[in-house]
Amino acid sequence: MKIKGSKIGGGNRVSLGLPSIFLLCLFFFLAGFFGSSLFSQQETPGNIKPLMRETAEEKKIEFEALQNGETGEESVEAIPFQILSWYPRALYFPNFATAEHCQSIIEMARAHLKPSSLALREGETAENTKGIRTSSGMFISASEDKTGILDQIEAKIAKATMIPKTHGESFNVLRYEIGQRYHSHYDAFNPAEYGPQKSQRIASFLLYLSDVEEGGETMFPFENEQNMDANYDFRKCVGLKVKPHRGDGLLFYSLFPNGTIDPTSLHGSCPVIKGEKWVATKWIRDQEQDEEY
Ligand SMILES: *[C@@H]1O[C@H](CO)[C@@H](O)[C@H](O)[C@H]1NC(C)=O
Repeated sequence: MKIKGSKIGGGNRVSLGLPSIFLLCLFFFLAGFFGSSLFSQQETPGNIKPLMRETAEEKKIEFEALQNGETGEESVEAIPFQILSWYPRALYFPNFATAEHCQSIIEMARAHLKPSSLALREGETAENTKGIRTSSGMFISASEDKTGILDQIEAKIAKATMIPKTHGESFNVLRYEIGQRYHSHYDAFNPAEYGPQKSQRIASFLLYLSDVEEGGETMFPFENEQNMDANYDFRKCVGLKVKPHRGDGLLFYSLFPNGTIDPTSLHGSCPVIKGEKWVATKWIRDQEQDEEY
């Protein structure tokens, strides 16, 4: 009992020191708290929040504009993109144009739509190529659009590609209704099939003007050299598929840097299953285009 008592007594002595223990605890708690946060910042940069702050700071540094040249621009512009593939060289530009601009382009094109045509190869006629490309479309140049929207989009495409707008053909605005499609094809013209070319298409920029509920994907059946055997059926929707999304842009290069045609740039439009697909296409050439474009 006494022993217990003395223990209790000891307890009493301890209880006398409680405030100091309390302070000690507080000290260690605070030391541990700040110490750990210091530790986590210095030793674990993988920690999500510091990493996010770091990238934000990195971006700030990246975005500091340099003294521009006489033909340059004062501000730094962000045009985000994703590399969709290297074979073909395809980039995706989310939110390239606003929904309002897309709708305006649809409205300006709607009244002028005609069945889309094809560049014909030897032996091909409108009759025997019927069904390859079943969309409707129209051509409109930026200068014909008095609202200035196409001008703005054309300028942005020139920035994103760094190919001057004088190298672009007119916009080809296309509508694909249910069941309509474009079988796989090349945008570039192989001289062996089409004869000598005054200029060649380097790249294509597709601006999706509408969402499509189902189908209507842009497909690259030979992406990464898949399906490239002789058995590929040009109607088949396989390979890399890009689902249309209003306002987003898709850029791909038809030519290698050495000017020959990239076989993996073969592409088509899968049939629309539900909804309607609207797209504005800009073909970009290696030569400046005449006024007629
Ligand atoms: C052009 O470039 C491609 C891709 O790098 C290459 O496969 C091809 O052999 C080249 N062709 C010529 C004629 O140099």
